[in-house]
Amino acid sequence: MTRVVVTGAAGFIGSRLAHRMLDEGNEVIGIDGFTDTYDPAEKLDRASTLARRPGFTLVSGHLAQLRLEDHLDGAEVVFHLAGRAGVRASFVLEARYRYDNVTSTERLVAACQRAASLRRLVYASSSSVYGDAPLPFHEDGATLPVSPYGASKLEAEQICLKANGTDLETVALRYFTVYGPGQRPDMGLRIFAEAAWADRPLEVFGDGSQSRDFTYVDDIVEATARAAWAPVAGMAINVGGGERVTLLEVLDYLEEIVGRPLRVRLGPFAQGDVRHTAADLSRARDLLGFGASTRFRDGYRAEVDWLRPAGAHGERRTA
Ligand SMILES: NC(=O)c1ccc[n+]([C@@H]2O[C@H](COP(=O)([O-])OP(=O)(O)OC[C@H]3O[C@@H](n4cnc5c(N)ncnc54)[C@H](O)[C@@H]3O)[C@@H](O)[C@H]2O)c1
Repeated sequence: MTRVVVTGAAGFIGSRLAHRMLDEGNEVIGIDGFTDTYDPAEKLDRASTLARRPGFTLVSGHLAQLRLEDHLDGAEVVFHLAGRAGVRASFVLEARYRYDNVTSTERLVAACQRAASLRRLVYASSSSVYGDAPLPFHEDGATLPVSPYGASKLEAEQICLKANGTDLETVALRYFTVYGPGQRPDMGLRIFAEAAWADRPLEVFGDGSQSRDFTYVDDIVEATARAAWAPVAGMAINVGGGERVTLLEVLDYLEEIVGRPLRVRLGPFAQGDVRHTAADLSRARDLLGFGASTRFRDGYRAEVDWLRPAGAHGERRTA
């Protein structure tokens, strides 16, 4: 049985990855600081579901404060997903973003380098390291973050990659906008779906022409799992859904799924939001053997169904 550590295990993506690792017969140490980013009930709910599974141990604490050595002992792989996500809030909470993303990563990496059993660290980086770089984003191309969040993810990624060596191998995955059941409540696709079900007006930043390479959460988990065992290290790898969808297309699908017209209000573009993202996925294909398997239409339907209000349409499921 392999022991793996998942940081951010109570989060949207980390919890899904922890379940996958348990399904495959691994022992999982899940670390989470339950930071004050969104409704703690969502994180607690996911953590307690995990804690009921044999093979899972929850460590409740912040990476910048825990005695990390105790929790890395005997582990072979660390999946480092703990981080303060979200672009807009980073303009007003820059110091928190640095503490949660950069200081925490520095400490974790130092502890990983001292942990004799540890073979590999997989870091959850972000497409936001590219900012408004030319499309499609390639790992060897420019990184021009336009938000404190993007800058903090780039700095943390560099800390991880610099530590790559013979005793510890490191890989950074640049996730492109992740969605699906369980998505964070501050993310656009979820905000739109919740407004649609409640028949509230949808506030859209910009004219809707912006586009994203959306990635379904199970595809992200698949690529992340592969990165732990693939013979590749010391580099960043894009992980995207491979399908670029505009915001106007998102709204069309949503209208179709909820089966009634949406009330959309267009506003100014938001600070730090890049216009378009598109991943060059050749590295993920060639080095991880990865290709996304969920089409946006199907994945978004799963998320919108998960958000369907309880009562008239049935109970909301746990993601
Ligand atoms: N969701 C996306 O679209 C997306 C895209 C690119 C990158 N990422 C990265 O993937 C990771 C997971 O994102 P998510 O959407 O699941 O976010 P999330 O907020 O749901 O999960 C992050 C979890 O980490 C915990 N945490 C944060 N900082 C911590 C710290 N320093 N010490 C201990 N625990 C801490 C939080 O309490 C939370 O439960 C993040 O690092 C994020 O930057 C996410």
